[in-house]
Amino acid sequence: MSRRLVFLGPPGAGKGTQAQAIGRKLGLAHISTGDLLRKEVADCSPLGREAKVFMDRGELVPDAVVVRMVKARISEPDCAAGFILDGFPRTRAQAIALEAETHVSRVFFFDVADSALVKRLSGRRSCPRCGASYHVEFVPPKKAGICDLCGSTLVQRDDDKEETVMRRLVEYTAKTADLIGYYRDRGILTSVDAFAPPEQVEHSLIAAIRKVPEA
Ligand code: AP5
Repeated sequence: MSRRLVFLGPPGAGKGTQAQAIGRKLGLAHISTGDLLRKEVADCSPLGREAKVFMDRGELVPDAVVVRMVKARISEPDCAAGFILDGFPRTRAQAIALEAETHVSRVFFFDVADSALVKRLSGRRSCPRCGASYHVEFVPPKKAGICDLCGSTLVQRDDDKEETVMRRLVEYTAKTADLIGYYRDRGILTSVDAFAPPEQVEHSLIAAIRKVPEA
């Protein structure tokens, strides 16, 4: 019995922040395609070298590459108890490939005004060691620049530079926003007010997830 969830929304909507916290609290594996790709880049693998070209430009990595990676990840043992997909699917082709692989229990759409996104992304800081995410103003670590969880020095993501952020937002509108209607038509979309403070978003999401039947 498990819940297989998708967190859908624009860059900076808070998908990663919530997936990490809720995954831990509800015992669901957190699968971030962005994190998986950044690991491949850091390892200088062939996949990482191919993906880096697209990521640096703020463009989507080709579907075939990402689908292969996700298929392998969701078949790992920790996903048997359920998982949260964060940042996947991002195109209709990815959504169709996911459906062929597994049953999606529910898709949560992170609804947030565009005006908030650039500020959230430019202030984001991440831990290179454990992946925890912060914001210099909205979600500050206890000690400036240091990860609360593992004590590592926080870094800014390369693709959080303003011109790359703008490109990512364009990609989202052109290729990903269509999935809102796609999942609404299938009757499995829930919109979440992601403009609210993080604790409030988490509270609403957990309440909504608990209502999703396990299958
Ligand atoms: P990815 O890493 O997935 O980036 P993204 O989707 O652009 O999402 P972000 O990580 O930027 O935002 P988020 O919604 O997780 O927000 P967060 O919680 O961090 O992808 C990177 C790249 O990889 C892509 O550009 C693409 O090239 C490639 N890629 C990945 N997946 C792919 C796919 N499926 N197909 C093809 N290519 C793919 O929050 C942002 C900031 O806001 C943080 O600082 C946080 O502390 C703060 N914050 C969070 N919630 C709140 C709140 N409620 N109020 C105020 N601040 C908040």
